[in-house]
Amino acid sequence: MLEIENIEVSYHHTVQALRGLSLHVGPGEIVALLGTNGAGKTTTLKAASNLLALEYGALEAGRIRFDGKDTRGMAPDALVRAGLFHVREGRRIFAEMSVEENLIAASYALEGRGAAPDFERVYAFFPRLAERRGQVAGYLSGGEQQMLAFGRAMVARPRMILMDEPSLGLAPKVVEEIFEAIRRFNAEEGVTILLVEQNAAVAFSVASRAYVMEHGQIVMEGDVAKLRDDPDIRDFYLGMGAGGSFRAVKHYKRRKRWLS
Ligand SMILES: Nc1ncnc2c1ncn2[C@@H]1O[C@H](COP(=O)(O)OP(=O)(O)OP(=O)(O)O)[C@@H](O)[C@H]1O
Ligand SMILES: [Mg+2]
Repeated sequence: MLEIENIEVSYHHTVQALRGLSLHVGPGEIVALLGTNGAGKTTTLKAASNLLALEYGALEAGRIRFDGKDTRGMAPDALVRAGLFHVREGRRIFAEMSVEENLIAASYALEGRGAAPDFERVYAFFPRLAERRGQVAGYLSGGEQQMLAFGRAMVARPRMILMDEPSLGLAPKVVEEIFEAIRRFNAEEGVTILLVEQNAAVAFSVASRAYVMEHGQIVMEGDVAKLRDDPDIRDFYLGMGAGGSFRAVKHYKRRKRWLS
């Protein structure tokens, strides 16, 4: 469904963010992409959804195919209409608009596809959004904003979602709720998901395969069942090893809060 082959990406023609990265996601799969700060996870998703140009980034080598078609030159909104939806890092919702208006805005993706937007489906997944449908989105809690960002993706009826760190900064109970929705949406609608996460434990709870990246390259890949037992994964991503990794995770979270 999504094939990324040997891509190299730079920003401003100077900062090289991806160095020959390859990964693939098959139809119906949930695949996790893990990696520490600055590894290039978000850049990988932006390359797939053709959003690099917005930030003076460029795909300098390699190729990306969605549904067998080379995505080079496809406008981001054309990719959305083709069924690829990117839920971006930091929950980019329209803060001054209501919950429902945010969902309505996402239905542009259905233009020319002969499908009506189904907001009730979103509300069935996230009853809290139904209760707050008339409320201004900027005043929602972080968890509710993440639900809304996901809901906007649902409205667009994608066949594949690129999801960037949905668990970031959220309480464990809310994370659980969102990941249950990810699992259900995949199981019930057959939507393929590439899930970027720093929290390997929650990513592994829904994914069947995972890739680990460092410095713009994939350094490890495999079935989740196998990766769970890998000593490096346990140490650095599951917080089960010596103190160093725990410190790294704490530091990461702190930096992330400054950004949001
Ligand atoms: N718009 C940009 N302009 C210049 N450099 C960028 C830009 N976005 C990312 N980079 C650089 O590219 C590299 C990869 O960044 P990216 O955001 O893809 O990492 P990430 O794995 O998503 O990290 P994080 O976990 O912090 O979100 C980093 O070195 C970063 O500084
Ligand atoms: Mg990122």
